Amino acid sequence: MVAPIYLDYNGTTPHDPEVIAAMRPFLESEFGNPSSSHWYGIRPKRAVENARRQVADLLGCDAGEVFFTSGGTESNNHAIKGMARARKADGRHLITTTVEHPAVLEVCRYLEQEASPRPMWMWMRPAESTGMPSARPSGRTPSSFR
Ligand SMILES: Cc1ncc(COP(=O)(O)O)c(C=O)c1O
Repeated sequence: MVAPIYLDYNGTTPHDPEVIAAMRPFLESEFGNPSSSHWYGIRPKRAVENARRQVADLLGCDAGEVFFTSGGTESNNHAIKGMARARKADGRHLITTTVEHPAVLEVCRYLEQEASPRPMWMWMRPAESTGMPSARPSGRTPSSFR
């Protein structure tokens, strides 16, 4: 039987052997919580901070600007809620596309329903071939307009 080809690398990927080798000590013996102040947390904390610096160097930003999350859903929540709330004085319309993952659409719906203290509107547009929201009329309106 021919094995199927796995194409959903947004969902999960096999780990690179170098990643497995780098992570192995922290999965086996140095398993302390890096946020704890006791002995077991010291080396994992150093490793996390070292990784943060390496990622910052790759991205050309400060280490304090790098946040590690549990995955896509937490990252989308962090980014969309953070930006919408920080910039609410500049605009109150969330524009997204119908092809977005539920981890994006549900955050936008949540912000629209939260609507506090002033309303926020979610616009779902068809996506262009670039993935950007289409400017063409779709007949859809934010749910709070219905
Ligand atoms: C595009 C996209 N965003 C978000 C997610 C959710 O990611 P996670 O399962 O890491 O929370 C996925 C998961 O498949 C995804 O494909």
